[in-house]
Formats: sequence, structure tokens, C-alpha cells
Amino acid sequence: AELDLIKISEDESLPKAKKIKIRTVQNNLETRVAVQGWIHRLRLQKGVAFITLRDGTGYIQAVLSGDLAKARTTQELTIESTVVIKGVISKLPEGKSAPGGVELKADYYEVVGLAPSGDEAFTNKVQENADPSLLLDQRHLALRGEALSSVMKVRAALLRAIRRFFQEEGLLEVTPPCMVQTQVEGGSTLFKMDYYGEEAYLTQSSQLYLETCLPALGDVYCVQESFRAEKSHTRRHLSEYTHIESELAFIEFDDLLSHLERLITTTVGYVLEDPEAGPLIQQLNPGFVAPKMPFKRMEYIHALDWLNEHGIPNEDGEKFKFGDDIAEAAERKMTDTIGVPILLIRFPVEIKSFYMQKCKDDPRVTESVDVLMPNVGEITGGSMRTYDYDELLASIKRENLDLDSYYWFTDQRKYGTCPHGGYGLGTERILAWLCDRFTVRDCSLYPRFTGRCKP
Ligand code: 4AD
Repeated sequence: AELDLIKISEDESLPKAKKIKIRTVQNNLETRVAVQGWIHRLRLQKGVAFITLRDGTGYIQAVLSGDLAKARTTQELTIESTVVIKGVISKLPEGKSAPGGVELKADYYEVVGLAPSGDEAFTNKVQENADPSLLLDQRHLALRGEALSSVMKVRAALLRAIRRFFQEEGLLEVTPPCMVQTQVEGGSTLFKMDYYGEEAYLTQSSQLYLETCLPALGDVYCVQESFRAEKSHTRRHLSEYTHIESELAFIEFDDLLSHLERLITTTVGYVLEDPEAGPLIQQLNPGFVAPKMPFKRMEYIHALDWLNEHGIPNEDGEKFKFGDDIAEAAERKMTDTIGVPILLIRFPVEIKSFYMQKCKDDPRVTESVDVLMPNVGEITGGSMRTYDYDELLASIKRENLDLDSYYWFTDQRKYGTCPHGGYGLGTERILAWLCDRFTVRDCSLYPRFTGRCKP
């Protein structure tokens, strides 16, 4: 009853509070501010309440004392409730710690939305050690957690860095369609859809469209969703992922490889320099060191030797022989053991896509590359493209693809062909490597994979 008598009211004689976002606290020291956000952590003690407030741009500790702390409203606050807290921000004295080394001394606050307590309480919905599939059902709430939201911030910084790098290298951004009628990476992973009565697919890669842009726009790139109906559950496959792809005209295979090294080292450098993302990477992946150029280059055929020498079998449990696919497990073992980024090059024709240029010195292999990173494996796949018209037609036929639906692609070889190449990077794979996540699912906002299309 005594608590009910305490009324929280704002002292009108105080200076008007300046509305701020938490990321600007350091510029607003000793100013009366209003911070709006979600209660991230809450500690209620006798006569004092500590609230860690979160607004997506950062965290700040607010301290409520006196009547503010004693009021019933304060005693009934819950995690994830939204509040507006007004007060003055000041630096914490030596020896005390809180986010940003500051504290908000509250003189007034209002509840905007009280979150449930009891069974429905946030902490019951999102339990740290819960079954991953239960957590995925609650993804909309789980995103509020520190690790997941940090990865999403690094993700934004990575995409910013990639765009900055492409701009500096003179590539133009385009946005190809997601609904298409051609396959790029094999029929087994196509998502088919009914398109006004015609068969269409969700795109597996924007590569073919990027190739058509070269004569019009020069070197191009896109950041577009790609879709793969992957049947197997693995830690690095999603059904929908953000595909960073680029295509470069009048280059040779070696130019492609050095471009890839530059891309990775430069963008990782930009992300590490980023005042927000850099420290987050160190938190998520302590001791992470950016890779340096040049990367180790290894031919497919030498990778087979390495695997055989190290007793790592192929998918049939036998010694690797030319033409075998190096599947995920073997590839990871090799990459983790070698422990540095690898450009794995010159894959056999039969295990790679129809559009890949054959090597001049050995037509059994292609001018192709996979970039392999420790702890994740393949993060990028690229190649030079077959630019001879007849040779491309022969490949399309060899793969039993419907030639007619590729007329716009083969036309590129008719109306001014040129040697060119490109690659695709899986955004979630790079993030899994950068942020040391066990699976790419932790690097996507709302991951899609077999059996999971909600929320
Ligand atoms: O190696 P992929 O299949 O190559 C292509 O799609 C080319 N057409 C790209 C190009 O040259 N423009 O895929 C490229 C990258 C992979 O290295 C991997 O990082 C990512 O895309 N990737 C996936 N990421 C998550 N889930 C999946 N199911 C993925 N499939 C490929």
C-alpha cells in the first residue's frame, strides 16, 4: 500500500530532455536526455534499481533511486518492457563498469509497453540452452540476444565494406530478377514454381544475368538472394542465402584469383576498422586475425594427393581419384589442418558447372576456384566462363539443358564475346568464418532450410 502512494512524476523545472539514441551517449555527457528502449537486464534492490536499456544502437545502464526505485511500477518492471528514461548521463568513476563506461541517473521514466511476467515472461520464451528448433520458432524474440544481434551488425558492416570495395574497383551494382527460367548450378537444387501457368524457378545464382550486363555496363556485381533446394541438413547450407556475385570482363584466370584475394583481405580490413563491427568480431571470435595476401594456391589434383597422404577417404570410403568430388567433410578436414585460406583451383570438367572455361593446357580441368577458409570450408566459388559460342552450346547439350531457354545467354557469345569470369560469395558463410559461428543459420536473420520456413 505504501508503494502505491508513490507517484512517479516529472519535475517540470528540469531542463527539457534531449531525445537521443544510445550510440551517441559519449556526445551527450552531462546533458539531460531521454533514452527510449527495451529493458535488456534488470536488477531490483532495496532503494535502487539498475536497468540495462537497449535500443538496437547500444546498451546503457540507468540507475533509479529514491522514490523512483521504490514505486510499484518499478517493482513490477519486466525484461523486454519498453520504457523512456530521462536523466543525466555521466562517466562512471574508476573501478565501476557499465556499457560505454557511463551511467544514466534517472530522474523520471515512463513505461511504454509492459512485457509479460510469469509463464509468458521473455526469459521463458528464449532460454539460452533450449533446443535449437524451439529457439528458431522464437527467432523474432531470439534476435534480441547479444550474440545474434552482434552477428547481424557485423553482417551490415560486411555488406557496407563489400559495396565500398566494389565501388573502389569500379564495379556497378545491378539487381537481377529472382524469378527465372534457367538453372545455373544443376537441376537437383532447383525450387520450381508456377509462373502464370509456365514453369519457373527461384534463382540459384545471378551469374548468367551479370554476364549479360558486361557489354552494357562493364564490370558488375549484385547482392541478391539465391535459392537452393538442398536436401541435406548441414551446418553450411541454407535454402535461401544472400549471394554476393560479381562478373569481370576481359580478364584472365590469374586476374580473377588476385581480385578474390584483394576482395577478401580489403573487405575484412574495412570490417575490422569499423568502430562498431571491429570490436564485435573480437568479442565473437577472440584473437581473429585478418588473412594476408597472397593466399595459398592449390590445384585440385594436388588436393587429392594431400587427402590420400593424410588418409582422408572419399565419399565411398576409398582413396581419392581424379574426378571425385571433394565433399564437405574431407574439404573441412583439409582446410582446418592446413589452417590458412586456400584458393583451390582447376577442378575437373565433370564435377563443375556447364559454363566453366576449360584450361588451355589441360582440357580435363577448368579455370575454376573455390576459396576455402578454416572452420567453414568453401566460402566462394568462381571461374572463367566459356566464351566460345560452339563450345558453350556443346556444354549446354552435354548437360541436357534446354538450349532454347538459354538463347539470351548464348547470344552473349554471338554479339561480341570476350574472356570473362566471376564468382559468388555466400554472405552467411563469410560471416560464420568471421564471427566464428558453428552454423550459417546463426548468420541469417530468419534462416530457411529443409523443414523451416517460419517465422
Ligand atoms: O559455388 P556456387 O554454387 O557458385 C555459383 O552459384 C556461381 N554461379 C557463382 C558465380 O560464379 N557467380 O555458390 C557460390 C557460393 C558458395 O561458395 C557458397 O559460399 C554459397 O555460394 N552457397 C551457399 N551458401 C549457403 N547455403 C547454400 N545452400 C549455398 N550454396 C552455395
